[in-house]
Amino acid sequence: MDIFDAGLLHGADYNYEQWLDQPAILDLDLASMNEAGINVLSVGIFSWSHLESAEGVYHFDWLDECFERLYRNGQRIILATPSGSKPAWLSEQYPEVCRVDADGRRQRHGGRHNHCRTSAKYREACVRINTKLAERYGTHPALILWHVSNEYNGDPCYCPQCLAAFRDWLKKRYTSLDALNAAWYTSFWSHRFTAWEQIFPDDASIHGLMLDWQRFTSDQTIDFFLAESAPLRRVTPDIPLTTNFQMPDIGLDYHTFARYVDVVSWDNYPVWHRYEDDTAVAVKAAFFHDLQRSYKNRPFLMMESSPSATNWQGVSKKKKPGMHLLSSIQAVAHGSGSVQYFQWRQSRGGVEKFHDAVITHIGDNKTRIFRDVAELGAVLQKLGGIAAAGNEAASDGEARAAVVYDFQNGWALDNAQLPRSVEKNYQEECIAHYGAFWRANIPCDVISPEYADFGRFRLIVFPLLYMMAEETAENIRRYVREGGAVVATYLTGIVNESDLCYLGGTPGGLTDVFGLAVEDTDSIAGYENQEFTFGGQTWRASHYADRVRLRGADTPGVFAGPETDALTGLPAVTAHRYGEGAAYYICARTGGTTGGTFDGTSGGTFGGTFGGTSGGTFDGTFNETFLDHFYRGLCEKHGLSPCVPGDIPPGVSVQKCGDALFVMNFNSAEAPVPLDESVYRDLLSGKPVCGTLVLSPYGAAILKK
Ligand code: GAL
Repeated sequence: MDIFDAGLLHGADYNYEQWLDQPAILDLDLASMNEAGINVLSVGIFSWSHLESAEGVYHFDWLDECFERLYRNGQRIILATPSGSKPAWLSEQYPEVCRVDADGRRQRHGGRHNHCRTSAKYREACVRINTKLAERYGTHPALILWHVSNEYNGDPCYCPQCLAAFRDWLKKRYTSLDALNAAWYTSFWSHRFTAWEQIFPDDASIHGLMLDWQRFTSDQTIDFFLAESAPLRRVTPDIPLTTNFQMPDIGLDYHTFARYVDVVSWDNYPVWHRYEDDTAVAVKAAFFHDLQRSYKNRPFLMMESSPSATNWQGVSKKKKPGMHLLSSIQAVAHGSGSVQYFQWRQSRGGVEKFHDAVITHIGDNKTRIFRDVAELGAVLQKLGGIAAAGNEAASDGEARAAVVYDFQNGWALDNAQLPRSVEKNYQEECIAHYGAFWRANIPCDVISPEYADFGRFRLIVFPLLYMMAEETAENIRRYVREGGAVVATYLTGIVNESDLCYLGGTPGGLTDVFGLAVEDTDSIAGYENQEFTFGGQTWRASHYADRVRLRGADTPGVFAGPETDALTGLPAVTAHRYGEGAAYYICARTGGTTGGTFDGTSGGTFGGTFGGTSGGTFDGTFNETFLDHFYRGLCEKHGLSPCVPGDIPPGVSVQKCGDALFVMNFNSAEAPVPLDESVYRDLLSGKPVCGTLVLSPYGAAILKK
């Protein structure tokens, strides 16, 4: 059975082993879980030392008991493999399981998520314990999913086994040193390699080397995942398998990783309320959710979130009234089949003892957190049917836009030393472009440049796709020729997949498609007031500006000064017909109109440091950014329409799930939302709604006709 068929999951990490000496507490847990509508628990995530106290000495009695009790109580189980944190005896016996830093120092035992991913001994130990778990629990009726390890990351290890594996990886990729030297451009600074053993992945002056090292580390993590998953696949071929992904800047290429899991899951920790305005945080969370859904074009699981605050961010506030329901419903609206927490019961000790949990140290079910969770539990139960169907619809069917977000491009751009190297802000810029669709309530996927089927989309945006493979350029060409619309920006198509610059004008291989060639890219300094005109208004430009030579494109946007520099009069925004489609180019980072109070740029730091459209509590005035304005026009032109007609107030997001509308107010003030003529029923309040829906601060409604 598909994991998404049985309605929405509501669950938490359950660290049963932390409470074995307190049976009364374990009894209490079961009753409270039912009261909170918890139907699934993730167990065993960091349990290795409880499961195997010395090599080959196993203790499954407590986990047997945990399985039985949860099962009899009506909960299902997601069982983790324990490799996210290794036991001390293992590090002591086989020091090679610990990572080594670039200076050759082996890390001491401790912490978590820090095992060597190549170590043969670590792999052996994982396979052994995972085989035992699969044999023992694989047929238990409560088991619905494997949770392989926990939050793999891309932190490097420079041990001899990793270095040898890296060199093998390079041999496979390049077959000869000559090919490698050419790809890495080692004629620069006399870097030519004459033996594979000379290669050490710690030279920031060889961009190809650093990029390949990051690729290798990501691939080797996937290889480790496959190795530790092998016994699960063999013993329990019918139990699907996931591993919980993190926010995208962890050093792994999740587009690639996602191919190897049955179900995508991720851990979502937005910084609600850290700043006065939450809408920028809401856009960022929506972007990440849509990224998860887009990996496989399928629903995903929100494996972790905090029921209120975290304890590892500089400032983490408790969720304000309404926010727990709102932020959880947001995940579902974007395609999550679950709302799950870290964790069920707050730990008594350890570094996370002040991280919120469903049950906190006070120990009862009277807390505001518990009430919020229980209220959500009741809602999720009601939504079961529509959400499962809706999630499918969220990933299929209607005309959609897509923003391309590429992990490897992010690494290459980070490495690049450009004329302007501060505030490249790749992820923020992708989110800024995505945000325009979010604010217009137009469904948007977040895809890889290698996405197999560009034809699903009416409009695809490639923000700062600095590194563009020749194959991607070919796919873009075909897509536009056949009628698609694309938008590219400054710093797009600058280098190929080896980080070698395209010659003859950029975007590499696509100058005829865009009807222009970029001559070079200038920096706009902080003190400069660069502006451009577009659509009868004047807009701010900042950070980067391309100097463009036209080769057939129109120029709906033109740099207008007032700086008297060489940009004035040059194209700022271009449009070009190619084949049946259209290619647009935005030559600078853009901000708001120059007349308003907006003083930021689209790439401002997330969390409220910028005002304008996405910042500030809605006060009735709407100060548009260029991207909002630009994409509104483009969407109309290319047949992309909002989920609902009418003027939806800023900070309110509407997502369509099947035949239901999720309407979410991320403002701290009430928001009136105009609806069409139909009579709706709000599944949350149970009340009929027509005309105008008034949402409370951080309020949400789920409307069905
Ligand atoms: C996650 C991790 C959990 C817990 C949580 C706290 O990254 O998987 O084990 O540490 O953060 O927010």
